[in-house]
Amino acid sequence: MQTLTQYQADKTDIRALYQSLLHAPTHHLSEARHFLRSQLQLAAPHLADLPESPARLEAHILMNNARTARAYREYIKVRRQGQPRRFFTNRAHALYFLRNVAPTKLVDGAWLYGVLQQWHDPRMHDLVRTYLEELGDGEPDQNHVLIYRDLIARKDIQDLESLPDDRFLQGTLQLALGQLAGEFLPEIIGFNLGYEQLPLHLLISTYELTELGIDAHYFRLHITIDNASTGHARRAARAVLDNLPSEGQQAFWRRVRQGYQLNELGASSTGVITEFNLDRELCRVLEDKARVARHMHSDFCRIDGRTINEWLDSSGQIAALLDALQQKDWIKRHQDPANSRFWRLIQSNRAPMFGVFSDYELQLLHDWIAGEWLEEQQLRITGRRGSPSQQDPLVEASHRNEEVALQKTLATLPEEERTRHLIELMAPARHFTPQGLAATRLFSRRLS
Ligand SMILES: [Fe+2]
Ligand SMILES: [Fe+2]
Repeated sequence: MQTLTQYQADKTDIRALYQSLLHAPTHHLSEARHFLRSQLQLAAPHLADLPESPARLEAHILMNNARTARAYREYIKVRRQGQPRRFFTNRAHALYFLRNVAPTKLVDGAWLYGVLQQWHDPRMHDLVRTYLEELGDGEPDQNHVLIYRDLIARKDIQDLESLPDDRFLQGTLQLALGQLAGEFLPEIIGFNLGYEQLPLHLLISTYELTELGIDAHYFRLHITIDNASTGHARRAARAVLDNLPSEGQQAFWRRVRQGYQLNELGASSTGVITEFNLDRELCRVLEDKARVARHMHSDFCRIDGRTINEWLDSSGQIAALLDALQQKDWIKRHQDPANSRFWRLIQSNRAPMFGVFSDYELQLLHDWIAGEWLEEQQLRITGRRGSPSQQDPLVEASHRNEEVALQKTLATLPEEERTRHLIELMAPARHFTPQGLAATRLFSRRLS
């Protein structure tokens, strides 16, 4: 948070920079540079959880990994003994988490985009490979950004407009690094090293999302792909050693550690999880809704002597309205929501207000009404095991067509332009489009 305050003191709009670096990066390089420098100043390298010398890096990573595995085993043990979930109190809480980390997840891998330019340099091999794997080598059901986009669309939480600014900080850092690989390579290598470690919170989130019946494919994928023996974590460590200069190793290592520390800035996954407050989030969402719904109700329905239009007429009344709904027995908290008249009014597909609330809003209302009843239920819904969705043959055909069209375009270009064209299509804002996916597949094949 401290970093965001500092950043805002620069009078730069972090959301605007996120969007600019995503959609028109070449016009905003000096802002990106300025932003990165200011954030690097805040990232103290001595705090990085890394050894003093890069020679001990691999051993250090393996040790950390073993510690995470032990902590996770302990977590599973206590859960099996009947302890409640550690992260998510209910489904609404989990959806809140998915929405709040979305600006970061939607640019997954972006910090490595710039290294594609150096694909022919063997020292870049592991970083280039990691970027391609983030993009699923152009296979739509393996492209991390596409998987996350699909997840939040299915949960109806893809509106990110009203998120606080600090949610955009990590994503902006990633996009900025991806545009300035020529100047910030050691920092990118360090950031990548930090990002690709397997954290305990990822293991626990995956377990609890699945338990709540929420597709955890995106998270599970990162457990397997970021592992320390063969996955991205291993590649990240190798990239440090491959790029160590023969002179000035200490200075290089210092910059790597500083880049590693960038992972600590902005809103963290665990921060987002612990800050969740169901009452507050419900009121926020309903206040937003009220702004749109004002004057759209008939005056027949009165609660506590006031019409719904009167209740919604000015902001800040939602908590009082919820109180009134309880007083008048429209809402019976801490029992099955089906017992509440208000819930029946909004929920079933024959209900008078069906379709007014999004899935996320319904989940918040449901979990708020159910309250302690939900905890008693100890709902253990087994979720979809998150197997990647089967490719639709029509979609597959259109992907093939896209590839053929791209190959035709490439054939009209001189050899040196072809790779450049592919790389342009693999930018963070484009790689998940049909054209971007086709470009990634062709690029991956050329490399192998
Ligand atoms: Fe990823
Ligand atoms: Fe990764």
